[in-house]
Amino acid sequence: MLTAVYPGSFDPLTYGHLDIITRAAACYDELHVVVFSNSEKNPMFSVEERVHMLQSTCGHFPNVVVSSSSGLLVDYAKKHDIRVIVKGLRAVSDFDYEFKMALMNKQLAPEIETVFMITSLQYLYLSSSLVKEVASYGGKIADLVPPAVEKMVMDKIQTMK
Ligand code: PNS
Repeated sequence: MLTAVYPGSFDPLTYGHLDIITRAAACYDELHVVVFSNSEKNPMFSVEERVHMLQSTCGHFPNVVVSSSSGLLVDYAKKHDIRVIVKGLRAVSDFDYEFKMALMNKQLAPEIETVFMITSLQYLYLSSSLVKEVASYGGKIADLVPPAVEKMVMDKIQTMK
C-alpha cells in the first residue's frame, strides 16, 4: 500500500489545495492531509478549525485521512510509515521556498521523497493569504474556496471586527 502525506498550513483551505488533494488522492492508496502549525505564521484559524475545515470538505474521499501535527513533517511521515511527501507548486516564486524545504527534509530523512504536483492553471494565482486579504476588504471569495470555508472565513472576519 502506497501512502503519501500532503502537509500545509491550510489557513484557509482553498480550491488550489483541493485540486492537489483530488489529484494526489487518485495517485496514492491513502493520502494523509495534515495541518501543521507553522511557527513563522500568525494564523487566522486554530489548528482545530483548520482540521474541521478539511474534514467537512474532504469527507467524500474514501482514502483521505485528515489530521494535525505540531512536530516535524518527517517525524509525522516516519511515525505513519509514509515515504512520499506531496507538495503543490504554483509559480517560480514558490520554487525557492519549496526547494529548500525538500532538501532539508531529504537531509533529515533520506528515505522520504518529496513529489511536486504542478498546480492547475486556473489556480496559479491563488493563495490562502490572498483569500484572507480579499475577504478582509469585503471582496468576493466564493470562487476561491469551498462554500463551508467561505462561511468560516466570513464568520471569522465578523468576530475580528
Ligand atoms: O502551507 P505552507 O505554509 O506552505 O506549509 C508549510 C509546511 C506546513 C509544509 C511546513 O512549514 C512544514 O513542513 N512544517 C512542519 C515542520 C517542519 O517539518 N519544518 C521543517 C521543514 S523543512
